[in-house]
Amino acid sequence: MARLTILRYPDPRLHKVAQPVAAVDDGIRRLVDDMLETMYAAEGVGLAATQVDVHRRVIVMDTSEQRDHPIVLINPELSWRSPEFRLAEEGCLSVPAIYDKVERHASVKVQALGRDGEPFEMHAEDLAAVCVQHEMDHLVGKVFVEYLSALKRDRIRTKMIKKTRDEAGKA
Ligand code: NI
Repeated sequence: MARLTILRYPDPRLHKVAQPVAAVDDGIRRLVDDMLETMYAAEGVGLAATQVDVHRRVIVMDTSEQRDHPIVLINPELSWRSPEFRLAEEGCLSVPAIYDKVERHASVKVQALGRDGEPFEMHAEDLAAVCVQHEMDHLVGKVFVEYLSALKRDRIRTKMIKKTRDEAGKA
């Protein structure tokens, strides 16, 4: 397995739309394993392939407290959204150290293929529901800061560009 480089907002590649996976083959399984290693190393709860510059519909997540329950969603589609919404704080590995509240469906059902290529359906609530919706947004090129006001988004953009430049200077 290998750790992958996570794109950082406002990298334009974060806005590419991912294509469906045609077949869950060894190449996709390698991508899944590398994404899981990358997500755990970065202490994130979810990672979309878009964030590692692979524009295929693949998501990994683990919202368990013990960090021992990896979930793989290949070609995910929402089959149900609760009529209730919930406002919760979100962060993103592509926007490090930035947290803000976003309104999402309180629970969703998602249909996907697993790492073994078998279809399954998952009912996600609480943090898992937030995570599924956040990661599925990445697959259509949307980053959570786009739900915030233009003023906040511009501030975050400026902060991220400065942070990336400062870190490059140190390296
Ligand atoms: Ni994210």
